[in-house]
Amino acid sequence: MPRNPYTLVFGREPLQLIPRVSHITEITESFDDDPPSQQVFLLTGVRGSGKTVLMTEIAKQLAKRDGWIAVGLNPERDMLKTLAAKLASEQTLAKLFQSASINLSFFGIGLEVKGAVPIADVELALEKMLSSLVRHGKRLLITVDEVANTQTMREFASTFQILVRKDLPLCLLMTGLYNNVRRLQDEKTLTFLYRAPRIDMGPLNIGVIANNYRKTLGVDGDEAIRMAKLTRGYPFAFQVFGFFAWRHGSLDDEALMQAKQYLDDYAYEKIWSELSEGDRVVARAIANTPSSRIRDVRQEAGLSTNQFNPYRDRLIKKGVVNGSTYGHVSFTLPLFEQYVLEHA
Ligand SMILES: Nc1ncnc2c1ncn2[C@@H]1O[C@H](COP(=O)(O)OP(=O)(O)OP(=O)(O)O)[C@@H](O)[C@H]1O
Ligand SMILES: [Mg+2]
Repeated sequence: MPRNPYTLVFGREPLQLIPRVSHITEITESFDDDPPSQQVFLLTGVRGSGKTVLMTEIAKQLAKRDGWIAVGLNPERDMLKTLAAKLASEQTLAKLFQSASINLSFFGIGLEVKGAVPIADVELALEKMLSSLVRHGKRLLITVDEVANTQTMREFASTFQILVRKDLPLCLLMTGLYNNVRRLQDEKTLTFLYRAPRIDMGPLNIGVIANNYRKTLGVDGDEAIRMAKLTRGYPFAFQVFGFFAWRHGSLDDEALMQAKQYLDDYAYEKIWSELSEGDRVVARAIANTPSSRIRDVRQEAGLSTNQFNPYRDRLIKKGVVNGSTYGHVSFTLPLFEQYVLEHA
């Protein structure tokens, strides 16, 4: 049997990719403008909404363009030192730094530089390295997956801010869950982050998903559309439904049951555990209200409009609830109603 074209793995670029064309264009063009029209973007969205995949895709596309260098940093480590080390470990860059007499021996990195005093401050080291990059027409994209308001992240962001003010050629693309990004953005000293545009991972295009299922699974047009609608455009579900449909030959009841179990175990359990008790009350009410009308949901939850609205807004921002149809609320995640009712 040929290999399953769909993947159940998070964070790696899938073989079957539904391109988020407008986001990719917006971000790459902003970064690639001279000077960049935006130097920071934050990608937020619920687990499994494709933040890591989009970030990776953008880094890959920019790295292909002339002069761009892309470096990924782990927000749990010393980010500044890692950045200096990663830049110095690229052969061609190391030579530039060496010819600019940037001595990084203090950090135990870089090529030997005779006669130059070792730099002991990492911020100064980065400033010199970036100045030498700009002289050679190079630009740097830094990607950070799953940010939170941590000490290392604040330290990194404050240095980034200083380097940007010195007109150095660097851009920053980060991902995170809404709450984590919000807490980082609320950090008063990091003004550039406060103003940084946030992009919420909306659903993937249903028509493009249907087309993919038709071509990849060989199902007919109607079945492809039925399956695509079932995913609600949730990227992880696109892979999971595709995976089990491929394995079973179609998305029959058995395949759907296995797919649902997979969504539960690898996404919904985690998403549910991260909701507050109030969020859960509202989620249960949504699951119990087939009409999806706000008035009915509120009544089911036993909440007044003033009590209900903050929960609704928060669930929308977290990417769990869709509020785009006036007077209605529904889950963005397929079969999530069932999960909620089973866990009520
Ligand atoms: N554009 C896309 N087209 C097709 N599949 C996608 C796309 N984006 C993401 N996926 C699939 O969805 C799943 C989740 O993607 P990803 O790991 O990027 O999510 P995430 O938002 O980073 O989740 P987490 O918050 O848990 O890190 C993966 O299986 C991935 O293959
Ligand atoms: Mg991720």
